[in-house]
Amino acid sequence: MLTISSTKKVWLLAPDIGEDERLFVNEAFDSNWIAPLGPNVNLFEQELSNHFHNSNVHIVNSGTSAIHLALKSLNVKEGDIVLCQSFTFAGSAFPILYEKAVPVFIDSEKDTWNLDPNLLEDAILYYQKKQIKPAAIIVVHLYGMPAKMNEIISIANKYEIPIIEDAAEAMGSLYENKNCGTLTDIGIVSFNGNKIITTSGGGAIISNNINHISKARYLSNCAKDDIHYYSHSDLGFNYRMSNVLAGIGRGQLMSLQKKVEKKRAIYNAYETMLNQIDGITFLQEPLNAYSNRWLSNIILSAKLRDRISLDNLRNKLNSYNIETRFLWNPMHLQPVFKEAQFFGTSVSEELFKSGICLPSTTTMTDDDIVRVTNLLKEMFYA
Ligand SMILES: Cc1ncc(COP(=O)(O)O)c(C=O)c1O
Repeated sequence: MLTISSTKKVWLLAPDIGEDERLFVNEAFDSNWIAPLGPNVNLFEQELSNHFHNSNVHIVNSGTSAIHLALKSLNVKEGDIVLCQSFTFAGSAFPILYEKAVPVFIDSEKDTWNLDPNLLEDAILYYQKKQIKPAAIIVVHLYGMPAKMNEIISIANKYEIPIIEDAAEAMGSLYENKNCGTLTDIGIVSFNGNKIITTSGGGAIISNNINHISKARYLSNCAKDDIHYYSHSDLGFNYRMSNVLAGIGRGQLMSLQKKVEKKRAIYNAYETMLNQIDGITFLQEPLNAYSNRWLSNIILSAKLRDRISLDNLRNKLNSYNIETRFLWNPMHLQPVFKEAQFFGTSVSEELFKSGICLPSTTTMTDDDIVRVTNLLKEMFYA
């Protein structure tokens, strides 16, 4: 018999807001800086730049906008091929269509669940034969786990294709001791409400190339010409982050490392409590990577899924006030991308069919984790 130890809701990913955030937001209210620009915006950009070891940073209203601006900064235009990791959230890929460029999806490898370098090269060679050079590669550090960047960067360099690093879920993750988001030409992060640090909605574009950031800043601020009256020579976007939200971000950034440690502790607790169940596996961290473990995920063997389907598992946990979610449904399976070409086999599809994301909120207590794992054990042993 399943027992409910508490009816408290255990969220998949709830925001974790502290006193510093309140202080910066109050300051914005008290000084009437409710405008889209203001001191918090400048300071948040500066503090993010410090965090990213002096990379140039521009903050915007979402991670999706940041990817759009990254594509614009690289001059991706109508008809260009953009090679994109298939196993991701749609925000990685939608901006390709905003520019009427052509998304081509690449499957993941099994070690990190990210862009498979061999398939990436297959795709580049396929287009090379047609004398087409892809305009950009979008690689994702999914669930906070760094992709195989040495291999991917070396392929991108060989064929001289720029990389956009989608670190939306990987704020605080490291690859060979370097911040995810700073390993290539352009990186982005997201501060959406479910991310490890949040501004309720927001994102940032990061680059060592000041020209990319200047262009992104110009386009995100409605492409205003540098004249004393309104003049627009280019098509612009209103993608700015407001001074109030930047205040939340400043406070959140101060607690990033603490949150990474808590996420890693949550993951370790799940692994310790569940790995004696035959048929449950976890995504292991490669030696050269340090994941923020944004979401703790488990993969269930076919045998376990025969005992209880993912749907039933999710519904059952939900009836106990515990929120879970399926892994991302790959982009090449999405109706909106049905025309897109795909290079791969079934790695991402299998992950989607066999995995589930467990509650990973940084305010979770040990009791919450025990409640989740006890229920799972009861379901699998029932
Ligand atoms: C991998 C990935 N890329 C891009 C995005 C888009 O970010 P946003 O929601 O801030 O637009 C998200 C998530 O939200 C994401 O998880």
